[in-house]
Amino acid sequence: MQSTQHITIAIDGFSSCGKSTLAKALAKKMNYTFIDSGAMYRCVALYALKNGCALGAHKINLSCVVSSLPHIRIQFGKPDTKGNRPVLLNDEDVSDAIRQLEVANIVSEVAAIKEVREFLVQQQQNLGKNGGVVMDGRDIGTVVFPNAELKLFITAKPEIRAKRRFLELQAKGETNSIDEILENLKHRDRIDSTRAISPLTQAKDALVVDNSEMSETEQLEYVLNLVKNHTRA
Ligand code: DC
Repeated sequence: MQSTQHITIAIDGFSSCGKSTLAKALAKKMNYTFIDSGAMYRCVALYALKNGCALGAHKINLSCVVSSLPHIRIQFGKPDTKGNRPVLLNDEDVSDAIRQLEVANIVSEVAAIKEVREFLVQQQQNLGKNGGVVMDGRDIGTVVFPNAELKLFITAKPEIRAKRRFLELQAKGETNSIDEILENLKHRDRIDSTRAISPLTQAKDALVVDNSEMSETEQLEYVLNLVKNHTRA
């Protein structure tokens, strides 16, 4: 039986379908390192927003974003008891700031820039080079870790995803409507799946998990079973 101690688990899928929640819980259970690659794209988007590179919702100044890259340092802090890792952008904790809708409104455009992807993919590969990692994103099983031992592709119905994001934002005091969130999700799905560089696609060897009807606990149990069966094979 192959040891589960140092495998790489790649989790990809659409926006707000619970990838990070799953990745975090899985990493905690397996004593692995959790890395939310979307948070890294959000950091670049937040930096772009703060530095005047955004030209409005869904519009950015490309050269402004690219020239910002050398000034951006992203780090993850130690996990708390729930497995959440603070996200640090140039030493500032931006864990909440990167979740705002203003950031969501430009992040797909930022993530479609070749130089941004090269900048972040290299850092992601470095963060996961020793294995024992659960990383979630859009291109983890296809580009970042094409040789990951276990690849999962997570999906859920758009309306269910919007409702989950709505509740998450509401708990943080944000007042966006479900319709507004659904619109943003569909927009991001479209850009993420159709962009020229590393579009969101299911890796050929990924296992698909539709969690529309699963609770977080059910999903975790289901995936832990997949891990067990996979490492037994
Ligand atoms: O997972 P998320 O919603 O926090 O991701 C934010 C954005 O970053 C999303 O629009 C897609 C993009 N992204 C990406 O292109 N590649 C990744 N590996 C992770 C996220």
